[in-house]
Amino acid sequence: IITPVILCGGGGTRLWPLSRKALPKQFLALAGTDTMLQATLKRVDPEAGFGAPILVCNEDHRFLVAEQARAAGIEPAAILLEPVGRNTAPAVAAAAHAALAHDPDALILVLPSDHVIGDVAAFRDAVAAAAVRATAGDLVTFGIQPTRPESGYGYIEAGDALDGRAARIRRFHEKPGRETAERYLAEGRFYWNSGMFLFPAKIVLSELEANAPAVAEAVAAAYAGRTADLDFVRLPREIFAGAPDLSIDVGVMEKTSRGAVVPADLGWSDVGAWDALWSIGDKDAHGTVTFGDVVAEDVADSYLRSEGPLVAAIGVRDLIVVATNDAVLVAPKHQAQAVKTIVERLRAAR
Ligand code: GDD
Ligand code: MG
Repeated sequence: IITPVILCGGGGTRLWPLSRKALPKQFLALAGTDTMLQATLKRVDPEAGFGAPILVCNEDHRFLVAEQARAAGIEPAAILLEPVGRNTAPAVAAAAHAALAHDPDALILVLPSDHVIGDVAAFRDAVAAAAVRATAGDLVTFGIQPTRPESGYGYIEAGDALDGRAARIRRFHEKPGRETAERYLAEGRFYWNSGMFLFPAKIVLSELEANAPAVAEAVAAAYAGRTADLDFVRLPREIFAGAPDLSIDVGVMEKTSRGAVVPADLGWSDVGAWDALWSIGDKDAHGTVTFGDVVAEDVADSYLRSEGPLVAAIGVRDLIVVATNDAVLVAPKHQAQAVKTIVERLRAAR
């Protein structure tokens, strides 16, 4: 049995003004009627043969997470509460401890809570292929065929073929920068890291001990000092906050020699910014996606969304407009990533 581990501690700042500190994107219904967290949970529900999930989130979001799981009909094994976000390595480590408490041979399927997967059958298929390698002790990634030199992803160079569809990872390079990404794309053999992993819990912890001992030690101590109420498992602030801020990609995947990749064609999108929501959205004949109370006249290749006021647009192209009751974003679609800078400026100013 595979234990899903759902990471829901990210900020989702590039989807401002919808995604806010109090309500980051994973808790929003951005691409359907379920929130992204709920869609993630349903993808790995017990009916599909998965174990009860472990959720890891910031303690401020505990009721939101519990309520969304309940509404999706999912009974979590545990909801681990981080007093402060320390990135994905500590979150995965805490979940690995929790999984091992029930099963010394636990396999954990680490899933971001903010991705869209178009082809759920292909996803489950890829997980089954990955399980073969994880059972043999490998740390398995899911490789997405890259289509552009995206600098916000990890890149995986596939090496020797292993059994089934898997290959050994020759090199894992997290967020390599534009020029290197272009080179990787030209070279072939490289996949994007999807950000989903299938790990033997014991092995990911030992690799963390070997490659990022400060994270491993702080989280082991925090887990040992945990307190539980209901499904919530609290990690003590004084100890957990001592863990360095580190991603699992940099902390483990770039260093380990036990990495494997299962190439997978999943209709995957990480919905990082508004241009991605445009890409996966239902477009009209002129390539425009509208959502909510919107009137568009002679508009092409744009994403127009309102959560409140009527939005009217005339004669524009390649534009993103997102209106909420207290903020409006207007940006050319190709600059969607820069929303992050606005949010940083707002945080500094207010
Ligand atoms: N619990 C918890 N605590 N979750 C966290 C934390 C934290 O401190 N930080 C991030 N997360 C969650 C986010 O909500 C998201 O679901 C997931 O962990 C991944 O974190 P991101 O911050 O979104 O990572 P990324 O997008 O920069 O990079 C990762 O994903 C890419 C694909 O989308 C990497 O794995 C890349 O290699 C990969 O290409
Ligand atoms: Mg992400």
